[in-house]
Amino acid sequence: MRRFYRGQDMARIQSVTEMMAAARRRLPGFAAEYLFGGAEDELTLAANRNDFSAIRLHSRTLIANAPPHLQTELAGSRAAYPFAIGPSGYNGMLWPQADIELARAAASRGIPFCLSTVANASLEEVRRAVPQADLWFQLYPLRDSALNDSLLQRARDAGVSTLVITSDALVVGNREWDRRNFIRPRQLTLANKLSVLLHPRWLWRVMVPHGLPLMGNLSPYLPAPERTALGSMDFIARQLDTQLDWDKVARLRRQWPGQMVLKGVLNSADVLRAAACGLDAVVISNHGGRQLDGAPSSVAALAMVAPAVKGRIRLLLDSGIRRGADIVKARALGADGVLLARATLAGVAAGGADGAGRVVDILAEETARCLQLMGHSDVRQLRREDLILPEWMCDGREFIS
Ligand SMILES: Cc1cc2nc3c(=O)[nH]c(=O)nc-3n(C[C@H](O)[C@H](O)[C@H](O)COP(=O)(O)O)c2cc1C
Repeated sequence: MRRFYRGQDMARIQSVTEMMAAARRRLPGFAAEYLFGGAEDELTLAANRNDFSAIRLHSRTLIANAPPHLQTELAGSRAAYPFAIGPSGYNGMLWPQADIELARAAASRGIPFCLSTVANASLEEVRRAVPQADLWFQLYPLRDSALNDSLLQRARDAGVSTLVITSDALVVGNREWDRRNFIRPRQLTLANKLSVLLHPRWLWRVMVPHGLPLMGNLSPYLPAPERTALGSMDFIARQLDTQLDWDKVARLRRQWPGQMVLKGVLNSADVLRAAACGLDAVVISNHGGRQLDGAPSSVAALAMVAPAVKGRIRLLLDSGIRRGADIVKARALGADGVLLARATLAGVAAGGADGAGRVVDILAEETARCLQLMGHSDVRQLRREDLILPEWMCDGREFIS
């Protein structure tokens, strides 16, 4: 019974791709599409993978093969590996208490975990459940500044080290599957209801015992009937600050005493502006291809941005990380490290904290092996010269003005 309940043995899963397949099997159609889908024609979603594949590793040989050193500093946090678990909303649809499971997986491996504004567990719950977590908080700034003040105060009280402001989702991307999966807001199509019935393990584990997940961080600001993931949709649509601009980011910078990171930047002019605002780091990101379809891959953006900003601000990257080699490439291009999202989300959807932890272990092992095969013993040794880039990626042109 327990085996049926838990499903596949996570230790048998060998790669992130395999974990993603396990998650797809476990989730009903609408939840799998929510996790894996991108915006419109998914051009950017595909580019995130294709552009990593287009970069080759230029290895050296016969260099002393010391045990690999992967420890890194990510936006002021010490991390055992050059990656952290990045923010994602509505994780409770994938696994009960998925936010807490992800925080547990991250803390047990010595990497930070970033909780989303639209997480199902609250800052307070995550801190209580995982006191040792290096907790980051991702803020979608809200129109009502009193609510932002309250969220920041709660983040401070919960011992959050790093505030991440997401800037690329002021308008929600055109995710057609999301509209197709519902007849009307909040009501699944018949095909999706059948798909739910065909995934009894998910139904049994996620829906039956817990019902619709609550919006942990936003619940204190909502009347009781609107505290669920579906019930809060109107509130979120009303409250998301679509007028977020640099002045507001600068104000948040003055308010937040810890490390502060801007996520969703693809253009060197914006990276320099973030540095001028006093931010500690930016995440070069296209939101995993879920927002502006046709945006460049984050790795191509990093290749073009890093030489232009010349170390004036720390760089992180996300979007499309599926292999340790991707992390090595991001590091060699000038990022301190990367944020994971779908990779660890697939892990949590397939097997809770065990699944997410397995993904962290797989990526750590792959990064270490890749580093050694390249003739390095420390991620800090990686340089652009360790890569062979396609010509279009290194011609120095800024592709967005
Ligand atoms: C299901 C899902 C939910 C997400 N929710 C958020 C969110 O609440 N806040 C945020 O800043 N980014 C969110 N993102 C974007 C991720 O933080 C990250 O930028 C992106 O997923 C990276 O691409 P990858 O998952 O392909 O690696 C979400 C991504 C996914 C897949």
